[in-house]
Amino acid sequence: MKALQGKRLLLGVCGSIAAYKAAALVRLLRRVGSEVQVLATPDASRFISPLTLGALSGNRVLVEIFEEGSEESWTQHITLGHWADLYVIAPATAQTLAKLAHGFSDSMLTATALAARCPVLICPAMDHDMYMHPAVRANLKRLKGLGYQVMQAAYGELASGLVGLGRLPEPEAILERVAELVPGVLRGKKALVTAGPTREPIDPVRVLSNHSTGTMGFALATSLVRRGAHVTLVTGPTLLPTPAGVHRVDVAASAEMHEAVMAHSDADYVFMAAAVADYTPVEPSTSKLAKREDGLVLRLRRTTDILAELGQNRRPAQTLVGFAMETEDGIARARQKLIAKNLDWIVLNHVNEDGAGFGSGTNRVILLGRDGSSHALPVMPKQEVAEVLLERILEGCE
Ligand code: CTP
Repeated sequence: MKALQGKRLLLGVCGSIAAYKAAALVRLLRRVGSEVQVLATPDASRFISPLTLGALSGNRVLVEIFEEGSEESWTQHITLGHWADLYVIAPATAQTLAKLAHGFSDSMLTATALAARCPVLICPAMDHDMYMHPAVRANLKRLKGLGYQVMQAAYGELASGLVGLGRLPEPEAILERVAELVPGVLRGKKALVTAGPTREPIDPVRVLSNHSTGTMGFALATSLVRRGAHVTLVTGPTLLPTPAGVHRVDVAASAEMHEAVMAHSDADYVFMAAAVADYTPVEPSTSKLAKREDGLVLRLRRTTDILAELGQNRRPAQTLVGFAMETEDGIARARQKLIAKNLDWIVLNHVNEDGAGFGSGTNRVILLGRDGSSHALPVMPKQEVAEVLLERILEGCE
């Protein structure tokens, strides 16, 4: 899990029977290469020893702001709040939720939450009835409103012997959420992704289109947002759900896609994964064309090549990635396009191949670079293809 390598994490542990899971969470976080500092409430030590958490994290557990005999500065909560990339509080008890919701700062754990400049993820754990109590619900709502991230408690067996909502999610699930929230390498960067087919109108009911489903573009948008980029996804018609955190712009005809792309052409990274029609009817009819026995002749004209226009007007530090779908002589043709459209990278798909192309959940691509490099990827699910492409492209941009 590269997202957490070298990241600085604070883990807040409260006095809950679920505190034992904090030990496993510390181990997981360390294993993926994060630095971990544990902050515990005074009651947490009734459930798990600070020695255990200290040994596993490699740092002494901090509890009180003013510790007897400690030489640490009394402004340590401020220093830690600025140091951390993410602060996760797991398990968070009803008592601590109430304190956080009202800005109390009576321990290192709560005071640091006030000083934190990073995202704070709260993972509540308590008995079902406590979790469902209106006071707790109100506090959770308030916390969300204050900008805290809240992970829903899991359903299952509780310490009381009851079964219900209130369990602390498993450490693996918390780790995954932490990895999503930790600010990524693309924080502050803008990315523009296009996806899906275009629909060129023939008349009010008929269109010229293609078989693109948008999966590859949506996968790229997901991977980019996970790395912290501000992502705009300009998409042709598709049934795919919008990836969380992505700004989606729906378009239909290539002319609309052109306009939407140009409105976001200041992006740092552009991935032109849409299957844009090369031709559009010269004069779409405003009324429905009745069928005729002697057939129909459509006059088509070239659409604007959006990617070529971006290539001609590129910003200095912009990374421009195109896609090519070829049936034969792919590498040579894709390289020609890379040069002609002034791109940094082109992703070559082979159409007539099993496990690749339109409508397939998987893809096999070759990434060709402006520097002459070429990376052939094996057949993989499209989300994995997106991850690997992005890794390679970001490495190439360093
Ligand atoms: N593209 C575009 N605007 C168009 C057509 C294509 O931006 N009007 C983009 C696609 O999104 C893709 C790349 O250009 O990133 C594909 O290049 P293109 O030359 O259109 O490939 P093909 O359509 O496969 O071209 P040809 O039919 O000439 O092989």
